[in-house]
Amino acid sequence: TAAEKGGYDWFMTKEIEEQPKAVADTLLGRMTTDGRLQLDEMRLSDDELREIDKIIIIACGTASYAGLVAKYAIEHWTRIPCEVELASEFRYRDPIIDRSTLVVAISQSGETMDTLMAIRYARQQRARVLSICNTNGSTIPRESDAVIYTHAGPEVAVASTKGFLSQVVACYLLGLYLAQVKGAKYGDEITHIIDELHEIPAKVQRMLDEAEQVKKLAAELVDRRSFLFLGRHVGFPVALEGALKLKELAYVHAEGFAAGELKHGPIALVEQGLPMFVVVPPRARDQLQEKIVSNIQEVRARGAYTIVLVEDGDDTVVPFSDVVIRLPKVPTLLQPLVATVPLQIFACELAELLGHDVDQPRNLAKSVTVE
Ligand code: G6P
Repeated sequence: TAAEKGGYDWFMTKEIEEQPKAVADTLLGRMTTDGRLQLDEMRLSDDELREIDKIIIIACGTASYAGLVAKYAIEHWTRIPCEVELASEFRYRDPIIDRSTLVVAISQSGETMDTLMAIRYARQQRARVLSICNTNGSTIPRESDAVIYTHAGPEVAVASTKGFLSQVVACYLLGLYLAQVKGAKYGDEITHIIDELHEIPAKVQRMLDEAEQVKKLAAELVDRRSFLFLGRHVGFPVALEGALKLKELAYVHAEGFAAGELKHGPIALVEQGLPMFVVVPPRARDQLQEKIVSNIQEVRARGAYTIVLVEDGDDTVVPFSDVVIRLPKVPTLLQPLVATVPLQIFACELAELLGHDVDQPRNLAKSVTVE
């Protein structure tokens, strides 16, 4: 109903706007006053967690992209090998798991059948299962050994937005917590990241405040039938998510690629006027940043219309960008939390301009409870 939408035209626009709060609420109460993490619903003891020698993240759809982001962070902070797999693939391939494997199931609804079946399988193999879920008391957390709830509030629009951001935050909390359990030294990167996480809600708010630029861009590109998204490192899953949102909502062809793969195929798709979103890593990661700048030059030289998401103060890309979308400065691993937001807004706006039902895209369901 209109009242539930709180004055917004769509649940999705409301849920996009709620993201600063979703991030803040997911962080809330999970830090002690001395800056250490505490995860109350974490039913696994520190001793049990210290036994973990492998992490496998399983999920479907947008949640699987949150998992891809998490892999970079979790391996970097914990030095525990971490794989990410689609739940529907995991079960049927005879994965190598045992008591020292932590299977992390990410699911907004907690009811996705493939994810549920995957955790049942993992538990039969004696793996420990932790779920990251937004729905209290739903089936997946009930059947898990441990849970980290995301506190995004109910997500109604079929396409996930605040669900995704809060899943990424919960994954970071898990990674940082495991690092803490393993004895990571404080005063180092971990403390810095925790401080930076607290700055994220304000930075997400800034992306919302700057939505007008993205909406204008959607109006300009409303007749395009194909879009490409390029990213690397954690910008790669952001590219995948940007493309998925466009497919789901606007029913246009959209694909995300790892920038390093450009020359292995995607560049053949580039033709005059093809819109190409590019997520540029922070300049602190100079090698990654330089490489992607040369990718932008390459596609631009072949006629692509380049829409470049890049942090404040980095002007190296400006000469090769048709549109520059500015991102606040954040550590590389946290960049998905700000970079995803304009891509959500773009997809939502394009769908609305095309006259589609933003909240209930054709053929899709909020929660896929069949295999
Ligand atoms: C459906 C929804 C997506 C969601 C996916 C996984 O496809 O439309 O938005 O990402 O399911 O859902 P889950 O509830 O498990 O996160």
